[in-house]
Amino acid sequence: MPRHDQDRIRINPSILAADFVNMQAELARIAEADFVHVDVMDNHFVPNLTFGPQMVERIQATSPVPLDVHLMIADPDRWAPEYAEIGAASVTFHLEAATEPVALARRLRSIGARAGVAVKPATPVESLFDLLDDFDQILVMTVEPGFGGQSFMPETMPKLRRLADEAKRRGSAVWLQVDGGIGESTIAQAAEAGADTFVAGSAVFGAADPGLAITALRGIAAHSH
Ligand code: DX5
Ligand code: ZN
Repeated sequence: MPRHDQDRIRINPSILAADFVNMQAELARIAEADFVHVDVMDNHFVPNLTFGPQMVERIQATSPVPLDVHLMIADPDRWAPEYAEIGAASVTFHLEAATEPVALARRLRSIGARAGVAVKPATPVESLFDLLDDFDQILVMTVEPGFGGQSFMPETMPKLRRLADEAKRRGSAVWLQVDGGIGESTIAQAAEAGADTFVAGSAVFGAADPGLAITALRGIAAHSH
């Protein structure tokens, strides 16, 4: 496979599937990744709780790869900029939770992060069509946010395809990300529908060799994109 095909694909392992008390060693296992995906949950927007800015700051200081922060929190308008200040390469908040998504995206960019917006499986993407220039990445959730290890929802693929078609029509450089249930048996359909950035938790950290798992996922996605 030509290297340039693989260059358009990003594999972002989710540390939700990592061993939290051995974080430094877990991060060292995914040095081949493009970004490390950091799931921040507040027990309010989703029924689960992970960690906040202090932990993310330590991960930022320790990680061999840049951080892709996924905020599953209420009131991102108030809390998201802090994650950009820490130095996260990208900060993604949920469209369902934001009051002023465009203003928030501009604020994140002004701090120096890529601005991302995420939609849950039941949230339409059409309202994002006129906002494509305001975001650097759009995350189409392929499970209900809150937990790792759930099954991929293929019914989200038509929505992803509509978004990818619209982005192409407008000549947009926005990255299209999928998250939830991504593994060797599901990544091809997401790539085929137009995703270029793939979050994988259990499929990477559950593998005996996470580096090999990342390479395998990258190869399948590049072949299907
Ligand atoms: C789910 C999180 C995901 C999760 C993915 O709410 O946003 O990032 O860690 O885990 P897997 O790949 O195991 O479905
Ligand atoms: Zn996530």
